[in-house]
Amino acid sequence: MRYEGIIFDLDGVLCTTDHYHYLAWKALADRLGIPFNETDNNRLRGVSRMASLEIILEKSDRAYTLEEKEAMAAEKNDAYRRLLHQITRADLSREVQSTLDRLRAQGCKLAVGSASKNTPFILERLGLGDFFDAVADGNCVTRSKPDPEVFLKAAEMLGLSPAVCLVVEDAHAGVEAAVAGGFACAAMGDAKDDPRAAYHLNAFGELLQATE
Ligand code: BG6
Ligand code: MG
Repeated sequence: MRYEGIIFDLDGVLCTTDHYHYLAWKALADRLGIPFNETDNNRLRGVSRMASLEIILEKSDRAYTLEEKEAMAAEKNDAYRRLLHQITRADLSREVQSTLDRLRAQGCKLAVGSASKNTPFILERLGLGDFFDAVADGNCVTRSKPDPEVFLKAAEMLGLSPAVCLVVEDAHAGVEAAVAGGFACAAMGDAKDDPRAAYHLNAFGELLQATE
């Protein structure tokens, strides 16, 4: 095993909540009359809730107060949480579960490094509430990806240095964060071809070969 620890992004890596983020933002954007599509949504991957809202409002023709923005972020999160209630253990793919089990059996420490403040709720719904050795999320950092803070926090919680950890990401902002923190990165999904990543995964299960 090439790495002592692996730090996983959550949305779009361990589960497909990235689509629920899109649906919830889309409902808000439609209500405000702001254009928003899946391509715009890719810019929000890995980005915190408030920073995501700022990106969406770039296309708005009016300015909003901080209070209005906080209400919009809460509206989006309420819609997102309603969608999250649909998640059950059956939404954890067999490929993800078996890959995580194999990596652990190889002696690898496993952590989550996500910008989401909903991380504990999602992990619980997926049946992964007690699975990881460390969870660093949007509740314990102040700087959003591409800042490396959340991954550095996860490595620290694992008691490992970035040099012996691999980060798995589906967001360009996340790949940038990993590299800035001194981590090797395996990129998948939207960020798969990011040249800054050391590995380019077509599927989550390819992690096993990448880390051999
Ligand atoms: C990241 C998602 O994991 O979490 C972003 O990729 C999202 O799209 C961010 O904005 C914050 O999530 P939450 O659940 O705290 O609104
Ligand atoms: Mg992601």
